[in-house]
Amino acid sequence: MNSDVSGDPLARSFAQLARKADQSFRSLMVPKQPLEKPPLAIHQLGDRELRHAARRISKVDESIRDLARDMLRCMYTARGIGLAAPQVGVQKQLLVIDLDFEEAANPPIVLINPEIAAAGASLNTYEEGCLSIPGVYLDVVRPSTVEVSFRDEYGRPRRIKADGLLARCIQHELDHLQGVLFVDRVTDELSLNEGLQQQGFERQHVQSLR
Ligand code: NI
Repeated sequence: MNSDVSGDPLARSFAQLARKADQSFRSLMVPKQPLEKPPLAIHQLGDRELRHAARRISKVDESIRDLARDMLRCMYTARGIGLAAPQVGVQKQLLVIDLDFEEAANPPIVLINPEIAAAGASLNTYEEGCLSIPGVYLDVVRPSTVEVSFRDEYGRPRRIKADGLLARCIQHELDHLQGVLFVDRVTDELSLNEGLQQQGFERQHVQSLR
């Protein structure tokens, strides 16, 4: 786009729309409505699939994008904001995140082979939940900011600095790739036991990291 048209507000808004359409074409979008029959089942606390270290993805191709789309369908159906491949029994380093599942036009984030490049020195406490441990919400302490490098759904290298809920969500999902669950990080024993018991989960399936 050249400079004299971009000065015109109408042309500018058209360009913005076109860019947005291009972005959504270049990212993985599936309808954000819950499905009656999601394509994959989500494993729950106690299932061994949740406790493996996931393998790196060597080639980002259509099968990886298909998996990411199916994971998104599962995540939207379960009303979650993040899902890791091991949660659907696939031991690959793939995460999907969408903090804005109410917003149909907002593309999700797909992270392949993600690595924490840097974590902020300050910590914060945040109540977490997990689609693999439904109904349990407990406080976890983590760095409040992180910088993460990864490949996107087209294999392009990306690096983002995250804070707030996104930083929290990325760290929670990254843990899944190491077979770590948020309950492993909960320090309040009493609330942990109570929360698990109320939802019918067994304490013995928590692997304390302390
Ligand atoms: Ni989780």
